[in-house]
Amino acid sequence: MTSIMVILCRFFSFSLIWGLAKSQEFSYKDTTTWGQNYPTCNGNNQSPVDIPWGFGETVIIQPGELQWINYGNIPDSMRIVNNGHTVQIYPTWVNASDRPYLTGGPLGGQYVIEQFHFHWGQNDSVGSEHTFRGRRTAMEFHMVHWKSEYGTFEAAASQADGFAVIGALYDPIFGKSSRGIEEIWRELGGLRQPNDAIQIIPFPLSDFEVVNSRDTYVSYYGSLTTPGCNEVVTWLVALDLFSITSDELQQIRSVQLGHGDTHNYRALQNLNNRQFTYYQSKSVEIHPVWRNNAYRPYLSGGPLRSQYVVEQFHFHWGQNNNVGSEHTFRGGRSSMELHIVHWKREYGSFAAAMQRRDGLAVIAALYQPSTGRSSNGIQQIWRQLRNLRQENSAVQVSPFPLSDFGLLNPTHRYMSYFGSLTTPTCNEAATWLVALNLFPISNNELRDIRLVRLRHGDRHNYRPLQRLNNRRFTSYRSY
Ligand SMILES: *[C@@H]1O[C@H](CO)[C@@H](O)[C@H](O)[C@H]1NC(C)=O
Ligand SMILES: *[C@@H]1O[C@H](CO)[C@@H](O)[C@H](O)[C@H]1NC(C)=O
Ligand SMILES: [Zn+2]
Ligand SMILES: [Zn+2]
Repeated sequence: MTSIMVILCRFFSFSLIWGLAKSQEFSYKDTTTWGQNYPTCNGNNQSPVDIPWGFGETVIIQPGELQWINYGNIPDSMRIVNNGHTVQIYPTWVNASDRPYLTGGPLGGQYVIEQFHFHWGQNDSVGSEHTFRGRRTAMEFHMVHWKSEYGTFEAAASQADGFAVIGALYDPIFGKSSRGIEEIWRELGGLRQPNDAIQIIPFPLSDFEVVNSRDTYVSYYGSLTTPGCNEVVTWLVALDLFSITSDELQQIRSVQLGHGDTHNYRALQNLNNRQFTYYQSKSVEIHPVWRNNAYRPYLSGGPLRSQYVVEQFHFHWGQNNNVGSEHTFRGGRSSMELHIVHWKREYGSFAAAMQRRDGLAVIAALYQPSTGRSSNGIQQIWRQLRNLRQENSAVQVSPFPLSDFGLLNPTHRYMSYFGSLTTPTCNEAATWLVALNLFPISNNELRDIRLVRLRHGDRHNYRPLQRLNNRRFTSYRSY
């Protein structure tokens, strides 16, 4: 896919929309003087502001989910510029209907993506524009969208509801990098001087973790944080903190800004009479899901004579990307395998069902390293992995539907056979349903799961292949 896109880039040339940044002269040395040349910067609805929220608080979510649409679409081209105030990326799509857009939540319409960029500081203690209860983080990411009914970015820039901007705050506290960031950072060497501009290999915006179906966003009405400070922005700031390394922060500081600026975050503005509302987003990638009965999802049909309810799910992995799955496809092992264990409802409990020959049904999904986005289910579990490194550690995670693993797709086929649990006591009680698709996971995610310590110093948890003997395979399609 990527190689096709590279070829496309060579054949199309795109007119670049510079938008508001073009003719503006300003410096971050004293952001309080911007109003002298740009009067709107002294307005009553300015951004950024402090967000009065601390971790671990319960927030009341407004009805009306924020929807991220088309963010998995790979742009036809991607251009990055050092505009003297930031590193700004313009993704473009030849066909306007492929363009990602936001809708729902506080937004009364569709807001298409224009560009995204970053704000950073002189050291790791500063850099974000918004603050969480007075605390500034090391970097902030902005995705700027405009309301498509206004026809152009420029026209939307003068309408009170013209823009929607997603904000994501980054901090080095997790000691790891994030996808999306890595893809831009790789290119920073070509963007050292103001007016440097390069074309890069396009990647989907869903590579940025802020594009997530389960995050909560705080919304308020505000402005652009650079002159002319237009008061046209519905802000949606993710309440999650995102991960970046100190090395990466050091790298963005080596990008030279105009006027000798060494940071590009604006001072906090007064909230005045404005209010915050909270929204949760929802992915529009809804798959046909196991029919839901009394909350527990269950499987039925195919080789299963009855209803099998979910008990638990878990992963198998290896020492490196060449090993890890338990099942193999024609001798080829993939990097990880997910098992979703179900038991036959009529046996009353998992413990009782595992004593019966038809007691269990296990769905298996094999994962291969890929630049594609891993499923929301993987991402949500992976977010907790650092808290699970030690044996016997346990965390409570925010519940999410198992459909987030993206296994429930009508085009998927499953290979079924009768077998056993792959760990002692190895009960021969399992109807296996192995998805024939390979699912994407990133190298970073595979590295992260290897940091989880296993008992006995084990560095993998896949069992060797067993003999098939007289058993047969049947293939099924899910619906
Ligand atoms: C643009 O994409 C839409 C939806 O995929 C498609 O229906 C339409 O034909 C495309 N238009 C062009 C000009 O390719
Ligand atoms: C980081 O930079 C800010 C702004 O220049 C400064 O006030 C602060 O003291 C610095 N912090 C550290 C730890 O160097
Ligand atoms: Zn910004
Ligand atoms: Zn297993």
